[in-house]
Amino acid sequence: MYFIANWKMFGGLNSLNTIDKVVKFFKAFKKNRSIKIIYCPPSTLISLMSKKLEKTNIEIGAQNCHEQESYGAFTGSINSKMLKNIGANYVIIGHSENRQSGESNQLINLKIKSALKSGLKVIFCIGETLREKRKKITKKILDKQLKLGLNKVNSKKNIIIAYEPVWSIGTGLIPKSDDLYETVNFIKKKMRKNKVLYGGSVNPKNINDLKSINNIDGYLIGGASQDPKKFIDIIKKRYS
Ligand code: PGA
Repeated sequence: MYFIANWKMFGGLNSLNTIDKVVKFFKAFKKNRSIKIIYCPPSTLISLMSKKLEKTNIEIGAQNCHEQESYGAFTGSINSKMLKNIGANYVIIGHSENRQSGESNQLINLKIKSALKSGLKVIFCIGETLREKRKKITKKILDKQLKLGLNKVNSKKNIIIAYEPVWSIGTGLIPKSDDLYETVNFIKKKMRKNKVLYGGSVNPKNINDLKSINNIDGYLIGGASQDPKKFIDIIKKRYS
């Protein structure tokens, strides 16, 4: 069961201490449970956080990467190799906030290939917009995102799929249980061996409903992951 914290563009040096509580909690809670916690802070904190988490069983991911695997003249960009070099083991690719600012399926495909080459595991985000949901073309959209995003990706072993309906991110809304079960099932039929996570407004209240949907392999958590108490609560309640 995965619990992935996506901090987005939040957090400065003083935010690093907030993870101490989670480290302490998880040390005791993990016993005999197959749980993975992965923190994806902004790139500015990856190096420091990775030092801090060195002797713990919590891992680190980045939130995006450039598509070119080698160094290059791309002002403001960071590639997968550089992220790996400072302690990231995972990277989120295809998040809807980046798709909305212009990332195409083709660009996402290049990023995925480059990240895998650099030895990062990929948290590959897919999801439909509200308009697409209303037009009842969710499956068609997901199918397209998966096909184009994973085009010519030979080994899918190091890929985790995060299903994040765009309309549920940061809105407090989550899909109806039956719909979510069916969509996750649809993804699992296409990606037989891959873990499929749910993301979008996961919080300590709705985790009780979400945990009854038994084909979900974990959660990608945005807002609630910045508050250690809420993050811990989500994990505890998932198992209560
Ligand atoms: P949220 O974000 O939990 O704040 O809705 C999830 C995400 O964007 O990954």
